[in-house]
Amino acid sequence: MAAESGVVVRPARAEDLPTVARHYGSTGTTPWDPFTTPERLERIPRDGLLIAEKDGAYAGFLYWFEGRKPWFDKGADQYAQLEELRVLPEFQGWGVAQRLVDRFLRDVNERQIPLLYVATDETNQVAARIYESGGFRPFLRTIHYRKYR
Ligand SMILES: CC(C)(COP(=O)(O)OP(=O)(O)OC[C@H]1O[C@@H](n2cnc3c(N)ncnc32)[C@H](O)[C@@H]1OP(=O)(O)O)[C@@H](O)C(=O)NCCC(=O)NCCS
Repeated sequence: MAAESGVVVRPARAEDLPTVARHYGSTGTTPWDPFTTPERLERIPRDGLLIAEKDGAYAGFLYWFEGRKPWFDKGADQYAQLEELRVLPEFQGWGVAQRLVDRFLRDVNERQIPLLYVATDETNQVAARIYESGGFRPFLRTIHYRKYR
């Protein structure tokens, strides 16, 4: 458990926001990507932002939010979306992501949110393994189009 692995997951505090933004970097795909700066992170609901520490050092984060009536799943209502999961390269392979996802699953269970979503690239086998071991199953594929001019 936590003490054995040295991994602790806790809700984010205001002072974590610069660390999360630094970890995420400026690689977001949209100009309004909320994870790229502390100022943007200030504007999203903080209760879905979880921080993982290993032996007291920042190791990664998970962000989820609650929503209603997702546009991509007709008929569905209350849901939670696991929006972002990142672990610093030097802490990968220690079960940090697994612990973050376990905590996410516990939190949504406590709030009795009936439906959960997460999306990842089909090439990301590490993420797929984590999500599928948490009970997620593929249900929709998105196509990324590209055109060079
Ligand atoms: C995906 C990511 C979050 C995994 O974090 P992590 O803390 O290393 O993952 P864990 O240590 O909890 O490992 C979870 C599982 O993946 C496996 N795994 C981890 N790294 C692996 C690797 N490089 N190759 C193969 N398997 C790997 C672990 O063995 C474990 O499987 P198991 O439970 O069957 O033993 C991390 O690699 C990352 O931040 N990647 C970049 C961002 C990203 O891809 N995010 C997810 C997409 S939304």
